[in-house]
Amino acid sequence: MFHWLEKNPFFFAVGVFVTIAFAGLIEIVPNFAQASRPTIGTAPYSTLELAGRHAYIKNSCNACHSQLIRPFKSETDRYGHYSLSGEYAYDRPFLWGSKRTGPDLMRVGNYRTTEWHENHMMNPSALVPSSIMPGYKWMFTTMVDVDTVLAEQITIANAFGVPYNKAVPMKDGSSRIVKMGSTLEEANNLALEEARAIVKDMKNQDVKDAVANGKIPEIVALIAYLNSLK
Ligand code: HEC
Repeated sequence: MFHWLEKNPFFFAVGVFVTIAFAGLIEIVPNFAQASRPTIGTAPYSTLELAGRHAYIKNSCNACHSQLIRPFKSETDRYGHYSLSGEYAYDRPFLWGSKRTGPDLMRVGNYRTTEWHENHMMNPSALVPSSIMPGYKWMFTTMVDVDTVLAEQITIANAFGVPYNKAVPMKDGSSRIVKMGSTLEEANNLALEEARAIVKDMKNQDVKDAVANGKIPEIVALIAYLNSLK
C-alpha cells in the first residue's frame, strides 16, 4: 500500500518527520501535566554540593553510574521512588547515564553514610570484596576550586533563575533557603561551614586538618553531593 512512499524521497522524509514528531509529543506532553516543576522538595545545589558534583563529573563517575530510577518494581524496591522529571530541574548537565556498571545513585543519600563513602572511595573492594570500582585516593589530597563553583552559581542564577538565596518549598510544608556567596570569600565560608559538618563524621586526619586550615579536599565535597542525592 505504501510502496509509492518508499519510492518518493521527499514524501518519505515528511512521513518520517511526522512519525517521529508524533512519538516525541507522546513522550513529552504528559510531563507538562506534572503538578510541579521543580518537584516540591528539590532545592538548588549548595556551594559544597556543587563542588562535589564537579568532582563527580571530572572523575567520570557517570560512566559507570546512572542517576535515573525507572518505574519498574525491581528498581523501586532497590532504589526507592522512580525518578520524576522535576527532580532534575537544577541539574546542568543532567547525569542520567546510559550504562550501569555500578548501581544507580539517584537516591544513594537515603541509604549510605559519610563514613561509608569515606571508606568506599578510598578502596571500594575493602567494603565490597567483589567490587570492580577503582579507588579515588587523590580526592583526599586534591582541593576543590570554589571559584569555578561560584562562577557557575552566578551564571545559572542569572540565566535560568535558579533560586539561590530564595525560599524553596519542602515536602513537609516548610521552606529552605540555599545560600550563594556574593563574593569569593563568602562562598568559601559557606562551603567551609558545610565541610566542617561533614568531616565530623570522617576519620582521615589529613582531611580534617585541611578543613581546619580553611581548605576543602574533593572527597568532602563529593560526599556532600552524594549525601544530597535523595
Ligand atoms: C569502572 C566503573 C565505576 C566507576 C568509574 C565508578 N564506580 Fe562506583 N561502583 C561501581 C561498581 C561496580 C559498584 C558496586 C560495587 C561497590 O559497591 O563497590 C559501585 C558502587 C558505588 C557506590 C555504592 C552504591 C550502593 O548503592 O551501594 C557508590 C556510592 C559509588 N559507586 C560512587 C562512585 C563515585 C562517586 C564514582 C566517581 C568518583 C564512582 N562510583 C566511579 C563501578 C564504578
